[in-house]
Amino acid sequence: MELIDGKKIAADIRTEIAATVVELGKSGARRPHLAAILVGDDPASSIYVGGKEKACKEVGFDGSVYRYPASTTEAELLTAVGFLNNDPDIDGFIVQLPLPAHINAQNVIRAINPAKDVDGFHPVNIGKMTLNLPSYLPATPFGILELLKRSNVETEGKNCVVLGRSNIVGMPISILLARNSKLGNCTVTICHSRTKDIGLVTREADILIAAVGKPHFVTEEMVKPGAVVIDVGIHRIPDPKSKTGNRIVGDVDFENVANKCSMITPVPGGVGPMTITALLLNTLSAFRKDFD
Ligand code: GUN
Repeated sequence: MELIDGKKIAADIRTEIAATVVELGKSGARRPHLAAILVGDDPASSIYVGGKEKACKEVGFDGSVYRYPASTTEAELLTAVGFLNNDPDIDGFIVQLPLPAHINAQNVIRAINPAKDVDGFHPVNIGKMTLNLPSYLPATPFGILELLKRSNVETEGKNCVVLGRSNIVGMPISILLARNSKLGNCTVTICHSRTKDIGLVTREADILIAAVGKPHFVTEEMVKPGAVVIDVGIHRIPDPKSKTGNRIVGDVDFENVANKCSMITPVPGGVGPMTITALLLNTLSAFRKDFD
């Protein structure tokens, strides 16, 4: 079994981005600028946004965070989005999800200028992605494609099973892997809460992508011998053996599944570091106006 080292691959890509930023600077360009809007104080969201700020510094981007209280109204948030849409110093921005329940996230996403939508969540960008046109790709699926590419995983003609159909991961990665493109051409099956016998489907997977949001959901008997397993989950579970009393695990029962597959992403250190890195790649594309 080979570990797919997301931490190392993400670091390699960030070094490449930093070198590009230095080159751009030499030709007199300003630094690329990524902004994030954070509403409320969801601890996981604060950690993600903090990670984005740190990553921007690391590669020489400008990074800004606009923090709003949980009581912010949808109208106020739409105004904030309008400001960033019109700020020429900001190349791309994201609105951190989830938003408080009183705000309709789709209304907010639709208000983002598609040219600055580095999350790739706007219907225009989802449409372009689906039509195989150049566009921003949602960060986690984009990160997964980079992991597969840089680990020399052949996708063409492979059976790929995706567990989960979220707008952020399951839906876009299913589309990307089925596209007629170099990192696509898979036969993709999506499993979700209404799938009758998930194990029956997953046992056919040459590439298994777990994005269900349930710790240790994927067990050894659900995996075909020699499969490539990509674990998108990230959960903190109690662990009396650990000093802190808990530990981070994924959607896959790593200890048992690792013996059976050919390649697997660890949690932490697999898909996680790739997500922010993919967002940096999208920001570089926004700066260069690659998709205008
Ligand atoms: N929350 C969890 N993942 C993401 C993401 O990729 N983008 C945004 N905006 N929010 C998230």
